[in-house]
Amino acid sequence: MATEKMDSAGTGRQPSGLLVLRTIAMPRDCNPNGDIFGGWILSQMDLGGGLLAKEVAHSRVVTVTVDKMTFVKPVHVGDTICVYAKVAKLGNTSMEIKLEVWAKDLTEEFEEERHIVTEALYKYVSIDPEGRPHPIPKNPKLPAEGLAI
Ligand SMILES: CC(C)(COP(=O)(O)OP(=O)(O)OC[C@H]1O[C@@H](n2cnc3c(N)ncnc32)[C@H](O)[C@@H]1OP(=O)(O)O)[C@@H](O)C(=O)NCCC(=O)NCCS
Repeated sequence: MATEKMDSAGTGRQPSGLLVLRTIAMPRDCNPNGDIFGGWILSQMDLGGGLLAKEVAHSRVVTVTVDKMTFVKPVHVGDTICVYAKVAKLGNTSMEIKLEVWAKDLTEEFEEERHIVTEALYKYVSIDPEGRPHPIPKNPKLPAEGLAI
């Protein structure tokens, strides 16, 4: 029986991390080719990763770097976009969060049609009200799938 997180390529790869954001790719988010603009996807990842980073830091956070960004497949208008996030590394004031974006056409019947479209490593820094780096609490309390440390 199909599991909820099977991929459409049949590789057995499944989303890794906590589901932090779910949204729909709209026509206004297209590039000139008619596919979804990569900058929009990057932005959704930043929003999702930032949500997890705030839960870890209990403070405001800023994005400091984006690394290993890989666009695996195009996203199409109407696709459901799911952003998964997990903490890959905790520093003193910074944290690295591994992000994956999976897409699914909800008009398709089976969950196997879900496929990975983008992945990257985002680094966030916890800041105080003045925008200065601020220490992160150790041992964040997150569900196991949100932690890779
Ligand atoms: C992120 C920011 C607060 C860091 O300030 P800073 O004075 O450089 O701070 P520090 O040198 O003390 O570094 C703080 C942490 O950030 C990390 N860091 C800073 N610059 C980095 C860089 N270029 N690459 C990787 N890590 C970096 C440091 O390693 C350190 O991590 P640690 O405490 O876990 O060891 C500051 O550069 C900033 O505000 N940048 C703009 C962020 C922004 O506007 N983002 C876009 C919108 S969210």
